[in-house]
Amino acid sequence: MIKTWTKWFEKLLFNSDKLVNLYDKYYKDIVKKEIRLAKIKSIDKVLIIGGGAVPCTAINIANTTDARVDVIDIDEKAVKSSKELIQRLGLEDRIKIYLKDAKNIDVKNYDVIHIALQVTPKEEIVNNIWNRCSKGTRMLIRQPKKFLKIFYSNLSEVFIMGKKDKMKKICENNGFNTIDDLLLLVKD
Ligand SMILES: C[S@@+](CC[C@H](N)C(=O)[O-])C[C@H]1O[C@@H](n2cnc3c(N)ncnc32)[C@H](O)[C@@H]1O
Repeated sequence: MIKTWTKWFEKLLFNSDKLVNLYDKYYKDIVKKEIRLAKIKSIDKVLIIGGGAVPCTAINIANTTDARVDVIDIDEKAVKSSKELIQRLGLEDRIKIYLKDAKNIDVKNYDVIHIALQVTPKEEIVNNIWNRCSKGTRMLIRQPKKFLKIFYSNLSEVFIMGKKDKMKKICENNGFNTIDDLLLLVKD
């Protein structure tokens, strides 16, 4: 329900710069913390999985760090809208958008991989990436608030416990958002 609502909401507002700016306020602080957590720098190649029609995470990472960012999304309309928005913002040299399912992606060339809250099936995708990515790759994963977990595809406790020594987290449980923790997994 929340996943569908977010997708629908983004498609509704991508056309208006004012609404995009307003929506961006929701993401700004979260992305700032993620940049700090993963130590994202201009030399990093970043992949955003699940950019949506309004890829605020990609925009904030590109603008704050100057890193080159690729974005993928499985939804054709979201990809079309986000390409239009990125062009309108003049960011098309730094942010590239592709129509792709995260289940079949080549991740070898990325230093940082960011996985949106709504990405499905989460554990299968995270596991695939973990098995294929290069040593040192940093993965950022957003964890939903506990009472919202039923609306998302989630990582299992077994997975989380198994990667505990490779994981750092920041608690983001501060009021009006859907996120509980920001996780960083570093490939060894
Ligand atoms: C609504 S967006 C929210 C992201 C937000 N705009 C941001 O900047 O962080 C989440 C997107 O994840 C996409 N998605 C879900 N599963 C996916 C998968 N397996 N591969 C690629 N994209 C996926 C959905 O199509 C949706 O557009």
